Amino acid sequence: MKILIMNGPNLNRLGRREPGIYGSTTMEDCLAGLRKAFPEVEIDYFQSNHEGALIDRLQQAADDGLAGVVLNAGAYTHTSVALLDAIRSVDFPVVEVHISNVFAREDFRSHSIISPACEGLIAGFGMGGYKLAVQALTESARD
Ligand code: DQA
Repeated sequence: MKILIMNGPNLNRLGRREPGIYGSTTMEDCLAGLRKAFPEVEIDYFQSNHEGALIDRLQQAADDGLAGVVLNAGAYTHTSVALLDAIRSVDFPVVEVHISNVFAREDFRSHSIISPACEGLIAGFGMGGYKLAVQALTESARD
């Protein structure tokens, strides 16, 4: 089983970026933990600060026979109709993840443009949200 984790803008700075909100764990550490916790799952990772690059990678994933994608679109969550359309264009499930509880922050973070196209949403559990999302995808793939 193959899963792709995709992170959007500024998430390359996890570990150093606003640690009071996003914690001090790096994405590299998070990925190492996930690969240990799910040895049977092939976990690919892609991060970009560019909207089009995220869309290109998602479209490419459509040819990869993936069980699903875990997507933290960062700020594009709140702005990107193009990403919403891209998620609608692929036939595997996409789980939306936010490290922080976006509903407990500024009002503009309460609205996700991409949620309607996603299988489900996990927010507010810190980096643990990625693990919950992989678990959700592996369990739904087995059903
Ligand atoms: C985020 C929340 C977004 O509002 C923000 O723009 C991010 C990170 C999160 O993981 O909590 O970049 O997606």
